[in-house]
Amino acid sequence: MFRTHNCGELRLTDVGKEVSLSGWVQIGRDFGGLTFVDLRDRYGITQIVFDQDDHAELAERARKLGREWVIQVNGEVRERTNKNPNRATGDVEIVARELIILNRAKTPPFTIEDESDGGDDLRMQYRYLDLRRGPLQRNIIFRSQLALAVRAYLGGQNFVEVETPFLIKSTPEGARDFVVPSRLNEGQFYALPQSPQTFKQLLMVAGYDRYFQIVKCFRDEDLRADRQPEFTQIDCEMAFVTQDEILDTFEGLTRHVFQELKGIELGKFPRMLYDDAMRRYGSDKPDLRFGMELVELNDVAQQKGFKVFDDAELVVGIAVPGKADLTRKQIDKLTEWVKRPQIGAKGLVYVKCNPDGTFKSSVDKFFDQEALAAWAEKCGAQAGDLLLVISGEDEKSRKQLGNLRLHVAESFDMIPEGSFKPLWVVDFPLLEWDEESERFHAMHHPFTSPKREEVERMLTGDHETMKSLKADAYDLVINGAEIGGGSIRIYDRALQEKNFKLLGFTQEEAEEQFGFLMGAFEYGAPPHGGIAFGFDRLCAVMNGQSSIRDFIAFPKNNQGRDVMIDAPARVDEDQLEELNLKVTFEENQ
Ligand code: AMO
Repeated sequence: MFRTHNCGELRLTDVGKEVSLSGWVQIGRDFGGLTFVDLRDRYGITQIVFDQDDHAELAERARKLGREWVIQVNGEVRERTNKNPNRATGDVEIVARELIILNRAKTPPFTIEDESDGGDDLRMQYRYLDLRRGPLQRNIIFRSQLALAVRAYLGGQNFVEVETPFLIKSTPEGARDFVVPSRLNEGQFYALPQSPQTFKQLLMVAGYDRYFQIVKCFRDEDLRADRQPEFTQIDCEMAFVTQDEILDTFEGLTRHVFQELKGIELGKFPRMLYDDAMRRYGSDKPDLRFGMELVELNDVAQQKGFKVFDDAELVVGIAVPGKADLTRKQIDKLTEWVKRPQIGAKGLVYVKCNPDGTFKSSVDKFFDQEALAAWAEKCGAQAGDLLLVISGEDEKSRKQLGNLRLHVAESFDMIPEGSFKPLWVVDFPLLEWDEESERFHAMHHPFTSPKREEVERMLTGDHETMKSLKADAYDLVINGAEIGGGSIRIYDRALQEKNFKLLGFTQEEAEEQFGFLMGAFEYGAPPHGGIAFGFDRLCAVMNGQSSIRDFIAFPKNNQGRDVMIDAPARVDEDQLEELNLKVTFEENQ
C-alpha cells in the first residue's frame, strides 16, 4: 500500500496514528539532529521529520533526497511544537520510521512553487511540471468541477448530451478551417469543426429538443490571450423555444455555476440592445464593472470654431473620475495610445475639471470656461474629474473611445476586484457590410434568423434595408468578455436560401456546402435556437483572469505550437504519399 492518507488531510485528531504518505519532495531542511521534508501531492503538503538520534541511517538517507523525488514515508502522526497556521496540515507532522524511494528526479528546470522562477517558454516545454504547481492545479481542478456542475444542471433540465463528429465538412464561424486529408478518398479533405452548429440543428430536426455537449472546437485564427486554436464550448440547442426562454435557461445555468463554485449570487442579468451597447460603451461587450459611459457632445462642442470638431460626424467624451491631476506626460501617453494604428484615433482632447471649479483643456483657444463647463455638465463630471474627448466618424469614434475607456480603467486600477457584471447583449444586426470586399458577412453565422418582424423586409427589401436588419442573436458578456453567443435559427428552406444568397453564395455553392441542412429543413424542422459558451473563457472569467491558457491542461503557445511535444511537425514522405499529398504537391510545382 502506497498511502493511507493524502498529503492534505492529516489533522490534530489524527495524532498517534500510524500512517503512510506518498508524494513529491517539495523541499528538505536540515537542523542538526533533525531533517525536515515537505511532502507534496495535489491535496496539500505535510511535514515529515527524520530524527538523527532515533533513526540515524534513515536521517542520513533523508538528507540525500532531492527536490521532486517521489517517496513513500511510513510513520506516526505527532503534534508540531511550532505550528504553521498557513497550512491546513500545519498542526501536525509525521515522525518517519521508514522511507521508500519510489523514483528519483532530475532537478526541475524551474521551482515547483506558487510563484515559479521559470519563464513562459520553459514552463510550456515542461508543462507536466508546471501543472504540478498550485495555481495550475487549482485551475485544472476548477475546470473539472465546472464541467461536472454544468452536466448535472443541464442533465437535470432534460438536456441530452450527444457527441458530434470531428471529421466533418466546413462549418462557417468566421475563422479558417483546420483540414485533415483523407487516405481513402484521394485528394479529399475533412475539416475539423469550428463548432457543432449544423449537427446540433440536425439533432433538433431529429427531435432531441434539448441538446448539449462539452466539446472541442477548432479554429485556425490569430491567437490572443482569450483565443486558442482548439478550445472548448458548452454547446447547447433547444427546440420550441423563444429567445427569452433560451436566455432564461442559460442565465439559470450561469447563476447556478457561480453559486455552486464561487458562492456568488449574480442576480438578474440586465439585457442591453446591441445598438445601445455600441452607443453607450463603443463595444458589443461592455464591461459594466465601472462607469465612464460615452457621452455625445456634438451640441455643446460644435460650431465654436474648432474645425476638427466642426467637420466631425461625432464628438464624444467620457468623464474619468478623480483624474484631473494626471500630468501632461500621462495625458500625452494616452494620446499616443489612441493614435496607435490598432486604435486609429487622430487625436485626443482633454479637459481637466479642476477642484477649484475652473477648467483647463487642450483646446482652450477655442472654448472658454463656460463652454467647457457645458461639456462637463453633459458628461456628469465633478470637480476633480478628467474629460477625454474623441471626434470623427460615429461608429469608429465610439469604438476608439470605448477602447480608451477600458485602457484607462485598467491602467489606473479603476476596476473593482472580485466583482462580476454579467449582461445579455441582444438584437445584433443580421448582416455586416464589408467595405473592402464589398459583400455582406453574417454577423453571427449564416444560420441565424432575422427577427420575426424583419422576415418580410429581408425577403423583399433593397440593399440598404439589408444593412439594417436585426437578428434574434445574443451574446452573454461578463466583465467585458464575450462568454457565449447564440441565436434563434432559420428553419425554413426558402429563408435560408435567401440568406446564403445575401452572403454571396451561388445557389450551387449553397447546395453543395449546406444542402444536407436545407434538405433536413424540408422534413419537419421545428423552430429552434441555442447558444455556445466559451468554456475556457468561463473558467478564466470566474477566476478573475483574462487569459485562458492556464485553464487548459496542454495549450498551444502564441504561434499555435505545442512546444512540449513539438507540434505541428513534418510528416515523413511515405505518409504524404499514402495520403496522396506528395503527388498533388509535385503536380503543383
Ligand atoms: P461563437 O463563434 O460566438 O458561436 O462561439 C461561442 C463562444 O466560444 C468562445 N470562443 C473561443 N474561445 C476560445 N478560443 C477561441 N478561438 C474561441 N472562439 C470562440 C467565445 C464565444 O462566445 N455555433 C455558435 C454558437 C451558437 O450559435 O449556438 C458559435 O460557435 O466565448
